[in-house]
Amino acid sequence: MRVLEAAGGRGRLVEGDNRQALVEMASDLREKVTLAYLDPPFLTNRTHEAIVRTGARARDRAGPLKARAKRFAFDDRWSSRDEYLDALRQRLVPIRDLLAPHGSVVVHVDTKTSHYVKVMGDEIFGDDAFASEIIWRYRRWPSKTPNFQRVHDVLLRWRKDPKTKPRFNTPYEPLAASTLATWGTGKQRAVFESDGRRARSSVGEEKTLGVPMGDVWEIGVIAPVSRERTGYPSQKPEALLERLILALSDEGEVVLDPYAGSGTTLAVAARLGRVFVGIDQSDVALGIATERLQAAGIRFAPASRPRLVG
Ligand SMILES: C[S@@+](CC[C@H](N)C(=O)[O-])C[C@H]1O[C@@H](n2cnc3c(N)ncnc32)[C@H](O)[C@@H]1O
Repeated sequence: MRVLEAAGGRGRLVEGDNRQALVEMASDLREKVTLAYLDPPFLTNRTHEAIVRTGARARDRAGPLKARAKRFAFDDRWSSRDEYLDALRQRLVPIRDLLAPHGSVVVHVDTKTSHYVKVMGDEIFGDDAFASEIIWRYRRWPSKTPNFQRVHDVLLRWRKDPKTKPRFNTPYEPLAASTLATWGTGKQRAVFESDGRRARSSVGEEKTLGVPMGDVWEIGVIAPVSRERTGYPSQKPEALLERLILALSDEGEVVLDPYAGSGTTLAVAARLGRVFVGIDQSDVALGIATERLQAAGIRFAPASRPRLVG
């Protein structure tokens, strides 16, 4: 296992199998992780390739590309769904021990497995620990298949300890147009009659923050020409990770991504002042993630031993 340590204790990158890495991290990271985000392969039963930039200007994302090449990124072929689920279980069990009591785990899947993963997560964390099913709704190129086009992924969240107050910084979304038209941008206050019946709300001077965010999130996928695009397959948008990280962790807390890929979680966590821990077995993934973090000013050195935080 190769471990790169970020200067100033800002985080770690581990190249290797995440199961082994999670077991090796058990003593260093026990109960220190506030948010674990998992974006495993989606049981596509195929291999996935990255489009990497090569040549003299490879590192200069602003400049013209010298060349592009396809490189094997990861293998998502399984003998059965059970084998896939079992592999995920073997990662979720050690992650449970790494979570802080106020922490939570988010597993990003799609409709092919979300119902199986939900049952498995309830078994591992307890169904009273289940916190949210977030629907990430996105737009995609219309398909002519005779079905309702799938335009969402599923993010399942469990808390480590339902008896502990969770880390939760409420995000807000804008008021509906009809609410704005009726009430404007002032904060509404519920008004009750003397007999306890609800009367028409009043609006104060104070501006509203909006409404507390629901569990259906409309966030665009990364556009083909976006500067954010790394060429890594299945790269997730920074806006999605930013929302999760801001809501579910505080500055200085540890955010773990054991399926780090191109390092989206890690780059956003670093930008938001969280300590990042990323694992991936693909050297292509780790190469892209390292470059991305370096471009954000993170400096790395090989770690003398795979010790992670604190
Ligand atoms: C869907 S991609 C993650 C994409 C990432 N969220 C991003 O935004 O770029 C899944 C990643 O999991 C990695 N992976 C799959 N099995 C793994 C394992 N057993 N150990 C470590 N990494 C693994 C793959 O190499 C791949 O990079």
